[in-house]
Amino acid sequence: MNSKIKDHRSKIILVVGARPNIMKAAPIYAEMMRRADEFAVKIVHTGQHYDTSMSDAFFDDLGLPEPDHHLGVGSASHTVQTAKIMLAFEPIVIEERPDWVIVVGDVNSTAACALVCAKLGVKVAHVEAGLRSGDRTMPEEINRIVTDSIADLLLTPSEDADENLKREGIPAEKIRFVGNVMIDSLLQNLKRSEFSNIREDIGLQDRDYAVLTLHRPSNVDARETLEPLIDALIEIGEQMPVIFPVHPRTRAKITEFGLESRIDGSGLRLIEPLGYLDFLRLYSGAGFVMTDSGGLQEETTALGIPCLTIRENTERPITVEMGTNQVVGTEPERLKQAVLKLISGSGDSSGAKIPPLWDGKTAERICDALY
Ligand code: UD1
Repeated sequence: MNSKIKDHRSKIILVVGARPNIMKAAPIYAEMMRRADEFAVKIVHTGQHYDTSMSDAFFDDLGLPEPDHHLGVGSASHTVQTAKIMLAFEPIVIEERPDWVIVVGDVNSTAACALVCAKLGVKVAHVEAGLRSGDRTMPEEINRIVTDSIADLLLTPSEDADENLKREGIPAEKIRFVGNVMIDSLLQNLKRSEFSNIREDIGLQDRDYAVLTLHRPSNVDARETLEPLIDALIEIGEQMPVIFPVHPRTRAKITEFGLESRIDGSGLRLIEPLGYLDFLRLYSGAGFVMTDSGGLQEETTALGIPCLTIRENTERPITVEMGTNQVVGTEPERLKQAVLKLISGSGDSSGAKIPPLWDGKTAERICDALY
């Protein structure tokens, strides 16, 4: 590349830290590579997630190269993890002198890296800005508020997010409604996921099973909450197999509370966390999904698959208003009732729609917004 062109390119650092960042960063990276005459992009991985199944498998599935910088931060308390990310990220920003740092989502890595940029006076763009659950006991809610209050450009997935930001006093010129970038990954990979044999490997019939994910500290860290939920899920498993790829945090708690023996042999089937393509293949064939994840509420809406969210609130209300999502809370009885309704056909979500700009072109709009 001749040096004259290089001088004019926008220098970008794209940050990933945890599993749900990777499917949001991948389409942005791909779009910047397509527009390599405009952008010179480097990937920084903080190392917040480090297990192969939580990180490397996603890089491989989504075609991301090795990160240019790996901070190797690992697990710790939220404060220590956030502080370690900041300490390791600052020298990289000073060395690379980017025009923009892009942070995605709401994990500790998102807030930590945004804060470093704000202190150094480097412009930061937040992808998935403006989501609010209204629940400040959620670590992600604090990360969202902190990141949005200091970001220079707020790229929102839905118009309710624009409204939240304006209500918090963020000037309208900093806000761009670009759509949901995770749906870019979903649409790009749906066909590819058909090569996965995960359904056959587990021995599943199309739609004759449910998929579960559960990892929020508020659901899994205390025995009083996790145990009754697991009991309800075992009961639900008597109606229909429930396939449960288990997050490492949840796996550790199930072991600590001695819940394995009652799960063994039940319809609640624990499996290891899956890569992006296998997981997409799995939930896209499910009768319904139960989850406390943020992203899966959106992915099921995009595919028209009923979703029961095991939380008291959601920062993604559009998935309820337009999509297939129902926020059923963490009370086991309510969850069981909602499942019964779905299985009997009275919880039909056939009227659901795809929200505006969840069209697979969000990465293009993000790149356009960076001028
Ligand atoms: C983080 C995000 C959450 C996101 C989730 C997706 C924050 C505050 N939370 O939560 O929003 O939905 O990722 O997975 O950033 N662990 C491993 N291997 C790993 C990573 C974690 O074993 O690769 C275990 C460790 O015991 C660790 C625990 O999981 O202490 C929690 O990890 P952490 O990164 O603190 O948060 P998550 O619960 O994964």
